[in-house]
Amino acid sequence: MKLDYSRALLKEDVKNYQEEVSKIHESLMNGTCKGNDYIGWIRWPYDYDKEEFERIKDAAREIRENADVLLVCGIGGSYLGARSAIEMMNGLYPDDKVEIIYTGNTLSSTYISQVLKHIEGKSVYCNVISKSGTTTETAVAFRLFEQFIVEKYGVEESKKRILATTDKARGTLKELADAKGYRTFVIPDDIGGRYSVFTAVGLLPIAASGIDIDELMKGCQKAYEDFKDPDLDKNIAYQYAVVRRIMEKQGKCVERLVTYEPQMTMIAEWWKQLFGESEGKEGKGLFPASVTFTTDLHSMGQFIQEGTKLLFETLLTVENPQEDMIFPADKDNLDHMNYLAGKNIDWINKMACQGTIAAHVDTGNVPNVVLSMKDNSAYSYGYMIYFFFRACAVSVLMLDVNPFNQPGVEVYKKNMFKLLGKI
Ligand code: PA5
Repeated sequence: MKLDYSRALLKEDVKNYQEEVSKIHESLMNGTCKGNDYIGWIRWPYDYDKEEFERIKDAAREIRENADVLLVCGIGGSYLGARSAIEMMNGLYPDDKVEIIYTGNTLSSTYISQVLKHIEGKSVYCNVISKSGTTTETAVAFRLFEQFIVEKYGVEESKKRILATTDKARGTLKELADAKGYRTFVIPDDIGGRYSVFTAVGLLPIAASGIDIDELMKGCQKAYEDFKDPDLDKNIAYQYAVVRRIMEKQGKCVERLVTYEPQMTMIAEWWKQLFGESEGKEGKGLFPASVTFTTDLHSMGQFIQEGTKLLFETLLTVENPQEDMIFPADKDNLDHMNYLAGKNIDWINKMACQGTIAAHVDTGNVPNVVLSMKDNSAYSYGYMIYFFFRACAVSVLMLDVNPFNQPGVEVYKKNMFKLLGKI
């Protein structure tokens, strides 16, 4: 992964923050930082439970052998990571035997009914994922899909087809799974939802979609090695952490993640949760937004170019696309497109990207930070998520905010529970 902030229009040197960053790094590594009860993700690339990792691979193999559909039932940190990985690597129209369907992430009666109809007549497995075990969206959907599976396959067969990822010892879902004999996988106590994609939370669905999770963990390990030295000359995760704070000092209040691949749109959703939930506290933080270009250039491009100067862009680009093709010549050329004949579509996409950077930075005065990934592989995905974990933690700690809690999320739940009559 590479970071280029030469077009970020910085008015100060990133290295001015070395002392502050080194102290924060030290506090993360020795466990004295704010929120230090949730820093299990730091050493997870090496410390992950190897036995459980093998159980995940075994379960994924079984799902791939027997299922037409895997229902992944979870929300927020128990959902976005797996979906971001699966879509980034397998694309939006995967040619795979197992169809992954995301549920438990909405209370839309229409959506749930349509999924129930869609899975009729198919071989269905369900992985329900919830750390607390009490999340309403997940619990509502799970009851419906559990009943569907039990009715269709009977109690015994359901024990094979329903897998629960939850707390290792406590909580409603753990109790339910144990009582009914479902297989369980563990969400570690010291890893919060938005940092959990490389635990069973993400790894089971990711592996069940056919992705090599050994490679994913290798990518995380390489990132751990690359970011263990806080030296701002070398550590691009910490450079990015600092650039974000400088942007804020220069008056920006929105960071917009830009991708040029529709299959990376869910990466942006995952990234928004990571940064939004980690940073948006105590009246502080950059608002994380996202666009997929070139699609959104035709809707949001105008505002970015000439609207209020409240945002900067962080591009997440891919050097080598998963697939490419040559734009064909046409003998009649009635669409006047022959000037592109013989060019690769990815080259056209990259030219659009370069032209947009120039328009936004040089003409629009909108700072651009460019992060480039080599490819869409599991290894690159693992590297990228760990890059963002480290960058996020350091960037948020620079605000003197706890990056690992989310007290504000509870407020709407209290109101909703009151209205729903929850006792
Ligand atoms: O990051 C978070 O804590 C949240 O997004 C949670 O992951 C989300 O609310 C789901 O929670 P749970 O896993 O307890 O069902």
